[in-house]
This record gives sequence, C-alpha cells and structure tokens, in this order.
Amino acid sequence: MDFHTLCIGCRTYRRFKQKQIPEEILDELLENARIANSAMNRQPLRYVLVKTPEAVRKIQPCFHFAAALPKELGQPKKGEQPTAFIILCTEGPETPWTGIDIGIAVRTMNLNAYIHGVGSCIIGNVEFESGSSLMKHPDALYEVCA
Ligand SMILES: Cc1cc2nc3c(=O)[nH]c(=O)nc-3n(C[C@H](O)[C@H](O)[C@H](O)COP(=O)(O)O)c2cc1C
Repeated sequence: MDFHTLCIGCRTYRRFKQKQIPEEILDELLENARIANSAMNRQPLRYVLVKTPEAVRKIQPCFHFAAALPKELGQPKKGEQPTAFIILCTEGPETPWTGIDIGIAVRTMNLNAYIHGVGSCIIGNVEFESGSSLMKHPDALYEVCA
C-alpha cells in the first residue's frame, strides 16, 4: 500500500468486529509509537494496553464516540465495541510539546493498525475520573486509540 492510499483509507472507525487483535500487532503498534519522534527527545509518553475482554468491558463507558452525532449513530452498540484500548499517559511535567508528542504517537499507531486491517478511533473525549482503577494512572492521561 502506498502512503497516499494509506492516508485516504485510514479513517475513523466506530464499529468493530468482535475479534481479538493479535498480540504481535499490538506489540508492533506500541514499539513503533515508542520510537516515534519526541520533542527534545524527552519521551514522556507511557502506554496502558487494555485487551482482556473483561477489562475492555469495564472501561467502555468512559469513552465517548462521535459526541457531536446523535447517540444511536456515533456510539458503538453491544457487539460493535472496541476489543482493545491503548491509553496514552505522560510522565513528568507537561510542556508545550506534550500534545504534539501525543499526536505523533496516536497517528503512528492508527496508521500502523490500518496496514494490518485494524481500524481504530482516536478518542479525546474520555471520562478518566469515572473510570475503573485501570484508568487511574498517577500521571496525566490523554488520548486513547480504540
Ligand atoms: C485529537 C483527536 C481527538 C478525537 N477525539 C474523538 C473522540 O473523542 N470521539 C470520537 O468519536 N472521535 C474522535 N476523534 C476522531 C475525529 O472525530 C475524526 O478524525 C474526524 O471526525 C474525521 O473523521 P475521519 O478520521 O474518518 O476522516 C478525534 C480525533 C482527533 C485527532
């Protein structure tokens, strides 16, 4: 797949087949995000991979899909929900570059997933506070790739 085809094809997905994503694909996403560019090479990002069906089920309600659309259109229904989440966290003080590092990392993962036929949704609209203990990371929590 050439890069333009990848960019055109890799849209936002909000309904998912109920298949586990192979471990080696998840590992590859995390590794490629880990080695992505980072301002001043600070590398402040940490990743929480949530992949067991039980853990995924518990945190589903924290994520808001397409809040601008009517709920029946945006929010995935039972049987359509994501099978894994990758939650990005930061370590250390926030800098003007933190958000840029996050953007580079999530786009790296979302393009990387697409080349393996895995659709994803970047989610900024997250209720971290109401989440289970899985969501309670000591440092700041930011975007999520579902
Ligand atoms: C920083 C960022 C935050 C986003 N947050 C959400 C979100 O909370 N919920 C959601 O359903 N989509 C979210 N999206 C996905 C956008 O809605 C989507 O990229 C946009 O509507 C364009 O659709 P497309 O990617 O299919 O072209 C987010 C995208 C970005 C880049």
